[in-house]
Amino acid sequence: MSAFPREGNGKFTVPELLQRKSEIRNSANAKITCLTAYDYPTARLLDEAGVDVLLVGDSLSMVVLGHENTLPVTIDDMLRHTAAVRRGTKRALVVADMPYGSYHTDNAESLRNAVRFVKEAGAEAVKIEGGERRLELIVRLTGAEIPVMGHVGLTPQSVNAMGGYRVQGKTADAAEQLLRDARAVEAAGAFAVVLEAVPRELAAQITRELRIPTIGIGAGPDCDGQILVLHDILGLNFGHTAKFARQYANVGEMISRAVTEYCDDVRQGSFPSDAESYHSGQTIHSRKSVPVI
Ligand code: KIV
Repeated sequence: MSAFPREGNGKFTVPELLQRKSEIRNSANAKITCLTAYDYPTARLLDEAGVDVLLVGDSLSMVVLGHENTLPVTIDDMLRHTAAVRRGTKRALVVADMPYGSYHTDNAESLRNAVRFVKEAGAEAVKIEGGERRLELIVRLTGAEIPVMGHVGLTPQSVNAMGGYRVQGKTADAAEQLLRDARAVEAAGAFAVVLEAVPRELAAQITRELRIPTIGIGAGPDCDGQILVLHDILGLNFGHTAKFARQYANVGEMISRAVTEYCDDVRQGSFPSDAESYHSGQTIHSRKSVPVI
């Protein structure tokens, strides 16, 4: 096996993402596409569709595990899902969200937790929420060869401290703080920063000022890239959808329709048909071997 097993096969890397910033600025390349992914099949589909960055978001807590917010999801949950996403990905950069509590105690423990995402789950970078107050930690993680994506503006792990989910940076003071946060994340060595629920003018200003790419979610069209939660664009969520989330499909409705049809077929006896049944004398193969046709 080569010492550089993936070299040359089109893998999207952190240096390439950084390089895109100047190319986007000069209109020489397209903006960065990011989506959340939580499991093997969706990771494969997103990767094959050409998404640049797959974020195993801690939104897993809500959209997959059914919790009310992102706080309950555990490191073990995130590791398991990150590993599944990594197995389904060939080209996209896989970034793992560090969950609430995994980087909030001391820097040594936070570093140990971040290392687990790289070693055990195959993450190529981690994302942490917070600006100025994460400066030291980002320096520590990048010093240990772990690329870090920052996340400022609305940081859902701060829901209790913020008293809800609100657009950030609306007053002059808040905008100034957000600018400081974004600058701090860059100065500490992050390779990109998510701007969530930020007025578009402020996001545009941050994007102009920073040398690293900004990835917007509810931050207007001028960011270097965009990210959305997969379940929002697919219509697989059950609650309120944010103003910034565009729905491209109604997969929830497709699943309901398919499952209703299946139940009707079973109840009416039209499934399975004779063609879908084995006959005595046929060899039965396990699911892993070639199926009997
Ligand atoms: O957890 C998440 O989904 C995120 C967003 C940036 C999409 O952090």
